[in-house]
Amino acid sequence: MRILVFDSGVGGFSVAREIGKALPDAGMDYVADLAVFPYGALEPDVLIDRVVSLMDEALSALDPAALVIACNTASTLVLPPLRARFKLPIVGTVPAVKPAAEHSRSRMASVLATPGTVKREYTHDLIETFGGDCRFTLVGSQRLAGLVERQFSGEQVTDAELLAEIAPCFVEDGGKRTDAVVLACTHYPLVLDRLKALAPWPVEWIDPAPAIARRVATVTEGAEPSRDEGAPNRFYSTGRRPGRAMLDAFGFVDGEAFFRDDQPKSDADGVKAGKTALSI
Ligand code: DGL
Repeated sequence: MRILVFDSGVGGFSVAREIGKALPDAGMDYVADLAVFPYGALEPDVLIDRVVSLMDEALSALDPAALVIACNTASTLVLPPLRARFKLPIVGTVPAVKPAAEHSRSRMASVLATPGTVKREYTHDLIETFGGDCRFTLVGSQRLAGLVERQFSGEQVTDAELLAEIAPCFVEDGGKRTDAVVLACTHYPLVLDRLKALAPWPVEWIDPAPAIARRVATVTEGAEPSRDEGAPNRFYSTGRRPGRAMLDAFGFVDGEAFFRDDQPKSDADGVKAGKTALSI
């Protein structure tokens, strides 16, 4: 069986590594929409059209047993249109508000996400439904996902740059302080060690990836072998590619050979024409 993992960039590797642990015999195909990264800055209708048409193309080319939208920014918008259009099991990634509300003793938690995710009604509804009496601070980081991309393409990212993005998560009020931070962008767990070291005080960092991986295992139980059963884990990008070292570290090979033309003329053209940058 093969699983298709999708994200705007390399963040989905934080989910893929957990899927690898939960389903060691499954193969994975990873599609990163790096031609238009970051999704956090896209208008909702542009993002929906982009992801639906990209997945249309990727699903027919790769024929997976399940699709994992390993991106909060996309999942908070595209799960209903994707599920309406495609029959296979689709697992999304949305802010882990419920576990944060369960963990927090101080009743002060933060959601660290992209600006898109913190704006979504979906996120506000989650807090309303599952937040209970826990007070949530929503932190829309403009730069953190991009800093993670930079770090994994071998560039230097300073502590000061990372700290500036996470600092607003740490709130003190009336003798209490934040004790849980939801990692509501799949890029962030990839630099968790650095975030922990930089945090003004220790908190529970909530990464939903292990739960997503368990869900993928449940929905694929008894799945038929896939067309490319036994092929290595393959990485595809609509734009630039992360370095060899990163793909090696996550156990993926470059999927270049499967694309005829993966460089869009312009992102806007591709979206307007209802075409995606992927041509497999
Ligand atoms: N990894 C994506 C997420 O989980 C976001 C990065 C972006 O802004 O494209 O939200």
